[in-house]
Amino acid sequence: MKKTSIKLKINGKVQSFSVHPMSRLLDVIRENAGLTGTKEGCGEGECGACSVLIDNQLVNSCLVPVLEVSGKAVTTIEGLKNKKLKDAFLKCGGTQCGI
Ligand code: FES
Repeated sequence: MKKTSIKLKINGKVQSFSVHPMSRLLDVIRENAGLTGTKEGCGEGECGACSVLIDNQLVNSCLVPVLEVSGKAVTTIEGLKNKKLKDAFLKCGGTQCGI
């Protein structure tokens, strides 16, 4: 299938990507944007390892077709500005499963 161009605002920065129309947001974040803090665990919406914020709503990026995110603000773990939250992720091992 032919690739399509999409603009995403990730962590406050607008970027353009050429993606397969059926790509998952998770794959575009990791493979196209190079932000590997977002992980794939189960790949089916159960574990939360792929959690990101879309317009400040928590979602499992493995379940989101990237074309649904066009024009919305995506925040990954790299984009979190709250140091206490980042420290809590590290302290509680949230980097693997998102719990
Ligand atoms: Fe487990 Fe997305 S990878 S919920």
